Amino acid sequence: MKQLRLDKYLSDMSVETRSRLKQMIRYGQVSVNGVPARKPEMKVTPGEDTVTVRGEEIVYREREYYMLYKPAGVVTAVTDRKEKTVMDLLPGVRRSDLSPVGRLDRDTEGLLLITNDGALSHRLLSPKHHVEKVYYAEIEGEVTEEDCLAFREGLDIGDETLTLPAKLEILPDGDEAAVKSAQADDAEDCEIRSAEPKSRVKVTVTEGRFHQIKRMFEARQKRVAYLKRLSMGSLVLDESLKKGEWRRLTPEETAALTGGGKE
Ligand code: URA
Repeated sequence: MKQLRLDKYLSDMSVETRSRLKQMIRYGQVSVNGVPARKPEMKVTPGEDTVTVRGEEIVYREREYYMLYKPAGVVTAVTDRKEKTVMDLLPGVRRSDLSPVGRLDRDTEGLLLITNDGALSHRLLSPKHHVEKVYYAEIEGEVTEEDCLAFREGLDIGDETLTLPAKLEILPDGDEAAVKSAQADDAEDCEIRSAEPKSRVKVTVTEGRFHQIKRMFEARQKRVAYLKRLSMGSLVLDESLKKGEWRRLTPEETAALTGGGKE
């Protein structure tokens, strides 16, 4: 791997802010191959040089993968001049090349992968690769078998081409297990949302067009009242996370998603 400045190496690994790191290096708290480093601009090679901070080794991870349970009310962007972004929910994570994979609307909740693995982002988003994205949705009024058929055949949502075949499943009303496994959310929200007649559905698409699920239902003269992404390919939202919480992917999740490191 290519050489990096020592302060960038440590800031990428979220050890401290760049300015604090500069101080720490000058105070001799950072060593490279056992020798205290004095200059933040010193070049190190990840995987070859051993970098320690106050005796603790900091191993460089070239690629990073985070799962965020996106809450409603934040925008899917790296920065925004006015609005809170999904990146603001990972305050201790300082790496500057991370970005969210695919966009969830401001009011959409659920699984969001954040990574600096560009090849993976491309593979997950490109319609050519047919990666399934599964959503739980609550729809105003009644969703019918005709809607399921129309989703399967492809819908005209105002784009140049019809949507690719999608799977629409109507979740049985009152089937707590099905609803819970699809939604697994706090009961309070659930009660508020079920105050008016709604259909609960699961939708599987292999594309990621702008407002796709909402526009697919609009094409059927229906409105999405609530939307939550449950999974993306092999990656499933960890329901032990609370809304707004995040964690690193496990090695198993990363391997399943990236094909065990193969490009
Ligand atoms: N489809 C939508 O309409 N919105 C989202 O946030 C994701 C998929």
